[in-house]
Amino acid sequence: MNNPIPNLGTAEILEGYQQFVVPSYARFPVAFVRGKGSYVWDAEDRRYLDFCGGIAVNVLGHASSVVGKALGEAAGRLIHCSNLYYHPAGAQLAEALVRRIGAGKMFFSNSGAEANECLFKLARRYGASRGAFEILTAQGSFHGRTLAAMAATGQEKVREGFGPPVPGFRHVPFLDLAAAERAIGPATAAILVEPIQGEGGVRPATAAYLQGLRRICDRHGLLLLLDEVQTGSFRSGRFLAFQRILESFEKGNDFLPDGIAMAKGLAGGYPMGATWIREPYAELLGPGSHASTFGGSPLACAVALAVLRHMEEQDLGRQIREKGERLRAELEALASPERRLIRSVSGVGGLWGLHVRRDARSVALELMDRGLLVAPAAGNIVRLLPPLTVSEDEISEAVAILRAASRDEEAMS
Ligand SMILES: Cc1ncc(COP(=O)(O)O)c(C=O)c1O
Repeated sequence: MNNPIPNLGTAEILEGYQQFVVPSYARFPVAFVRGKGSYVWDAEDRRYLDFCGGIAVNVLGHASSVVGKALGEAAGRLIHCSNLYYHPAGAQLAEALVRRIGAGKMFFSNSGAEANECLFKLARRYGASRGAFEILTAQGSFHGRTLAAMAATGQEKVREGFGPPVPGFRHVPFLDLAAAERAIGPATAAILVEPIQGEGGVRPATAAYLQGLRRICDRHGLLLLLDEVQTGSFRSGRFLAFQRILESFEKGNDFLPDGIAMAKGLAGGYPMGATWIREPYAELLGPGSHASTFGGSPLACAVALAVLRHMEEQDLGRQIREKGERLRAELEALASPERRLIRSVSGVGGLWGLHVRRDARSVALELMDRGLLVAPAAGNIVRLLPPLTVSEDEISEAVAILRAASRDEEAMS
């Protein structure tokens, strides 16, 4: 196939961005031109093992034929039609997602922040009749970069220099049930948490915490909302991370939140956001209350359906659980609280956080030089987010790179 993008070297590409692209990202100095499976190649044809995975987007790896085929077929049939109309892929995807979560309905959008925005509007509609509008979120959380998602995010630095935050968000300590309950006031309408804080440094919630929040929300008449943007799409080893966290809990099967935001891996790299709303709350968002021009297009829904079916046919959830356990054991063997590069390890399935002894970005840069891509997070954490299709050999390769980096760090200290 002809590539319409001319061949440019890394320097030229970086120069293009420097001149013409808003400098809002702290990008690493590398430009990628192609990928296959767990690997990507830069403009000088150097190969990298990609455990950044588009920060939890590339669930099937790069250049997946499943994604490519679904995109091609849908593009040849119907790319877009307005949400003034219906289409079969939307009906099928909504049903597939609802069946994997619980009785409710879906709203489709294009990103994680938008999926959360739907939850924010749901909470406000829910509280409107009694004048409640406030959402409690967790310190250290991350919910996106729109004005409302920034206000929801429990990290002061994302709001700096952007004027008054959108009102109606307050942050409480993560994993602290008593603090959450104390913070509830007459204006509170909902509590929103990530079942595993991702950008905040791979901090999983416990089953007791999620169950406790459910009880608190029931007691005070609040909605319990989950942000599964980073943790959904089998990243944890189950379709959603709350299902993984609660599976060993005796009453886990009864647990349901009232709303869930999803995005990232849903369509294997094609932009898609989705919000599940529990029955009967979906009816709060009646005609004219919420919309998105591109949300839930025939193309996006067809790709998401193909990705979901493939993940289940291949049992990628079970596979990443098993491989994840092996990765955990190997990473823990490299970790030591005192002298080593890696102080400790947290995570589950295909989402791992390595607490490193120096700035996460400098460690990510060094690992990139050694041919391994990882994603920095807050609090000196580097995340490993391999595709769910990662092979045992690729895990060995990643561990070998980390072991070599760790050995060199120890030798220098
Ligand atoms: C938990 C969580 N919520 C929301 C978002 C925002 O998603 P998006 O960048 O697609 O708007 C992210 C992105 O990293 C995320 O990790």
